[in-house]
Amino acid sequence: MSATRIRRFGAVLAAAAGGTSILLFTRPSIAGNDRGPSPDLVRSQINDSKAVVPSRVVQESALIAANNSNPLDILVIGGGATGCGVALDAATRGLRVGLVEREDFSSGTSSRSTKLIHGGVRYLEKAVFNLDYGQLKLVFHALEERKQVIRNAPHLSNALPCMTPCFDWFEVVYYWVGLKMYDLVAGRHLLHLSRYYSAQESAELFPTLAMKAKDRSLKGAVVYYDGQMNDSRLNVGLALTAALAGAAVLNHAEVISLIKDEASNRIIGARIRNNLSGKEFDTYAKVVVNAAGPFCDSVRKLADQNVQPMICPSSGVHIVLPDYYSPEGMGLIVPKTKDGRVVFMLPWLGRTVAGTTDSDTVITLLPEPHEDEIQFILDAISDYLNVKVRRTDVLSAWSGIRPLAMDPSAKNTESISRDHVVCEDFPGLVTITGGKWTTYRRRCS
Ligand SMILES: Cc1cc2nc3c(=O)[nH]c(=O)nc-3n(C[C@H](O)[C@H](O)[C@H](O)COP(=O)(O)OP(=O)(O)OC[C@H]3O[C@@H](n4cnc5c(N)ncnc54)[C@H](O)[C@@H]3O)c2cc1C
Ligand SMILES: *[C@@H]1O[C@H](CO)[C@@H](O)[C@H](O)[C@H]1NC(C)=O
Ligand SMILES: *[C@@H]1O[C@H](CO)[C@@H](O)[C@H](O)[C@H]1NC(C)=O
Ligand SMILES: *[C@@H]1O[C@H](CO)[C@@H](O)[C@H](O)[C@H]1NC(C)=O
Repeated sequence: MSATRIRRFGAVLAAAAGGTSILLFTRPSIAGNDRGPSPDLVRSQINDSKAVVPSRVVQESALIAANNSNPLDILVIGGGATGCGVALDAATRGLRVGLVEREDFSSGTSSRSTKLIHGGVRYLEKAVFNLDYGQLKLVFHALEERKQVIRNAPHLSNALPCMTPCFDWFEVVYYWVGLKMYDLVAGRHLLHLSRYYSAQESAELFPTLAMKAKDRSLKGAVVYYDGQMNDSRLNVGLALTAALAGAAVLNHAEVISLIKDEASNRIIGARIRNNLSGKEFDTYAKVVVNAAGPFCDSVRKLADQNVQPMICPSSGVHIVLPDYYSPEGMGLIVPKTKDGRVVFMLPWLGRTVAGTTDSDTVITLLPEPHEDEIQFILDAISDYLNVKVRRTDVLSAWSGIRPLAMDPSAKNTESISRDHVVCEDFPGLVTITGGKWTTYRRRCS
């Protein structure tokens, strides 16, 4: 990136970062930050409209300078939502932070999401039917974060109305009650109230919606609100804001091994390989944070070859369709298709993104959507649309791997809780994974 582009980026981000930092500073400070810059200084650095993100050379030198007698407070592995969130949080607390990402920021799962900032209506349903207080708390916290993300990055996110079509009166009552509960759980973090629209009104709001599906005629729809965001840009925003706050942030730099202190058996740093120059160097840190997403087991393996994996990968595919498939500014979500899955169509950059969720997968560097998954989405949405759905309309498709943390008692990936896991199974190496984009900030506290 050229210096001017970085500068322009910095100015835009500084606006977003202001909100983040103000909130972060209201938290209690943690031990060991007494020698870092004061919160006021960090805040003015982030809010300085002329601030320039230091060059790649400077970032790398800062990582190299962190030697055994002068270690960083935290070295973060992974530049997705989780890693960049951790780095920003730690840097704004005045800690000395480094972050390395082997590809580009947000090249992993964080740029392959549905781009919703949501509490998770489905998790609310589970909470109610399983009387699961844990799930309910999850939804509650996610709804709080939903509002916070929109407040922190208003230039990259917005509230989005989503329509749930109902094809019998039971569905009308069921979804209306369910979405009113969603409003209720949101409380003062509510975006807008949900409401029922008649079949006629629904057709006006969503002209491509079928008036009949599976031989049943449309009875109406319940429209509710969630947030939508620009995931990859928000991620890059977090990385650059962390850099403005003083973190040494380097992309195209991979952790290839971990450094262990023989006496204490503690992880005290990592060997890093700069993939643009081929140069290798060591960076020392008091704590190494493993935020490698679906790859966090391969990082844990660097600490111990025989470690039990904790990631239960689950893939999700999205396709992009032409704009006329859905109206601008309104999404369509079908919570239960004929085979019980979720399908949705959301407006995105003047086009329509359609997708589903969850199928078991293996972890690969560049996950690719399978033809049968694309067909499944087309099949599922065609039941609910009055336009002809054709394979040739698919403009692009992508697949992402959810870094779900394993719960040994779970039966399939859909029943694994979306909550995050933070564990230190090796002294000095903290692994943080799971969760949702929406709650990236919460994972840090
Ligand atoms: C299909 C799908 C849809 C989703 N939709 C939503 C949604 O609508 N809303 C929502 O809130 N959440 C959603 N999620 C969940 C959300 O996307 C993830 O929880 C989140 O992006 C995970 O971020 P992460 O930083 O943990 O992982 P990642 O984004 O994968 O980041 C990990 C990074 O670590 C890097 N890395 C790995 N190994 C190394 C190494 N050795 N050295 C250096 N770097 C390394 C990788 O290159 C990668 O960039 C969705 C997930 C999927 C799969
Ligand atoms: C460690 O780094 C500090 C500061 O960069 C430097 O003064 C010191 O000489 C280095 N120590 C070693 C052992 O290289
Ligand atoms: C999202 O980011 C992309 C890439 O920077 C940009 O082209 C697009 O306009 C952004 N969209 C929104 C809604 O901010
Ligand atoms: C960067 O990584 C790629 C893929 O692993 C490799 O092919 C390439 O040689 C690397 N480049 C350098 C300069 O190390």
